[in-house]
Amino acid sequence: MYYSDDIVEEVRARNDIVDVISGYVKLQRRGSSYFGLCPFHNEKSPSFSVSPSKQMYYCFGCGAGGNVFTFLMEYENYTFPEALKVLADRAGVSLPEVEYSEEAKKQRDLKSAVLEVNKMAAKYFYYQLRAPQGEKAMEYLKGRALSDETMRRFGLGYAGPYSDELYRYLKKKGISEELMKESGLMSVNERQGMYDKFWNRVMFPIMDINGKVIGFGGRVMGDAKPKYLNSPETVIFDKSRNLYGLHIARTSRKKYILVCEGYMDVISMHQAGFTNAVASLGTALTSQHASLLKRYTDEVILTYDSDEAGIKAALRAIPLLKAAGVSTKVLHMDPYKDPDEFIKALGTDAFQERIDQAENSFLFELSILQKDYDMKDPESKTRFFQAVAAKIAEFELEIERENYIEAVAEKYQISFDGMRKMVMNCLMQGVPLRAKTTSAERRQVRPEKEDGILKSMRLLLTWLSEYPGLYKTVSAYVKPEDFTDELYKEVAEMLYEQLEKGELNPARIINHFTDPQQQRTAAQIFNTKVRAESQAEQEKAIRESIYKVVNHGITQKTKELGAADIQGLQKLIEARKRLQELGRLHISL
Ligand code: UTP
Ligand code: MN
Repeated sequence: MYYSDDIVEEVRARNDIVDVISGYVKLQRRGSSYFGLCPFHNEKSPSFSVSPSKQMYYCFGCGAGGNVFTFLMEYENYTFPEALKVLADRAGVSLPEVEYSEEAKKQRDLKSAVLEVNKMAAKYFYYQLRAPQGEKAMEYLKGRALSDETMRRFGLGYAGPYSDELYRYLKKKGISEELMKESGLMSVNERQGMYDKFWNRVMFPIMDINGKVIGFGGRVMGDAKPKYLNSPETVIFDKSRNLYGLHIARTSRKKYILVCEGYMDVISMHQAGFTNAVASLGTALTSQHASLLKRYTDEVILTYDSDEAGIKAALRAIPLLKAAGVSTKVLHMDPYKDPDEFIKALGTDAFQERIDQAENSFLFELSILQKDYDMKDPESKTRFFQAVAAKIAEFELEIERENYIEAVAEKYQISFDGMRKMVMNCLMQGVPLRAKTTSAERRQVRPEKEDGILKSMRLLLTWLSEYPGLYKTVSAYVKPEDFTDELYKEVAEMLYEQLEKGELNPARIINHFTDPQQQRTAAQIFNTKVRAESQAEQEKAIRESIYKVVNHGITQKTKELGAADIQGLQKLIEARKRLQELGRLHISL
């Protein structure tokens, strides 16, 4: 089966590698990469790295590496088309029509049928709420200060007191029991057969981003338990991928999105004019939610409940949002429990004020962290600041780190320089210069001998992918054909082409290779490090690598040169001369 480069690349680009691998390996940020225990060999300290900027993984211990496709192929034993399909589904990319199998077609038809049933049910509940038998439910919602307009906008409804009303309604409409079951709206047991899942509850239809009903939440109108019942996962309803209210919030023109816990919070906020509020419905925020949010905003304000569960939920959500590239603030609700209560008690302006005062998520994390330390005890206090430094060291950009050092120094009244030194120390320890594998492990996983010249080539290509600004300088000396290994040369050609166009995308280069062994090597090429203590040393190492690669290229060509090829010889002499000037070359990262 053949898929075009463009579709393969689209699927790859829409599946963030950190996001995908996080589903399999616990990853922690260190500098500009994430690290975890390698799933492809046995190890105790993490040498498996995932780079968000390169969209690649690479294990410094065993050399496993590649892009997001390689990972699934190696981890799940998928073929390439299988990995492509899984990732396309995951990102909601539809592969070309002709590729649909009989099975997939059936699935698609089932989905639209289930959507249709949900729509019927939503209409039915909507009508019931406004009919005489819905009077009590209407009273309940009005008692919670919801206007008719709000109820209409959210399509609120009512499931009547008998447990077979919807069943009979759908039956009359010609819906099969099979389909009713698929819709998640029915329960089945031996004694009663099939009956309504929701009865005597006010109903909150859950819509996808296009406003299509994909499930329901139903609330009791009093204190009975469970307070809410929700549709189970069905072919169209996946809790970890949908956010309540997003179909409206995405069209609000605010810069940020408010994320809360519940149906009523979203509805109250919208009614108060905060139409940019969504909820993750009783489940913790997932990385899929985070990428979904990232499609619509760069900033989230968490408006979780002010209780312990809400704080925990916020602490879990912050790193997921950060990994998706969303910056986060935390809104303080105290002394109220949730946005619904807050707005009822203090009103819209007060809520807006809290939004304006929302705390930077990092400083929020610190104030929670601080609770574990006795700040009156010097030793404990020092440990707290060490922990803070380690967290600051996780920021990728120097300017970001500086800003946080400044914020922390100010907040805790400590010295900027002292904090900065601590952060530097963490960074020094954290850089993955060489994996700490045992020699036995190394023997086991490093069959091939390190070849010096290949290493220089790899270093150059890694640097070019990390500091694209080097391209002009490096390409003046080193041409793709100087990479004398066939695979390296291919990689160099593609990388040069990307850099020329200003479209650096190393993971796309890996798409080009179909053999996992080649993908591995390509990933290795982009993940080669040297031990360099300072920037000056690093720059020296780059100069040396340029020298070695060009020199090796000249030597190779000299060997191949015919005795009579004066012109060729002339060229090589020129090249050598230029190489001598390299010592004076200024390289800056
Ligand atoms: P809350 O208990 O905070 O409910 O649960 P709420 O949204 O504030 O609702 P009211 O104001 O009491 O009516 C937050 C969310 O957790 C899910 C629901 O999505 C709810 O909106 N939840 C809660 C359940 O799914 N089942 C439950 O029994 C309780
Ligand atoms: Mn509430």
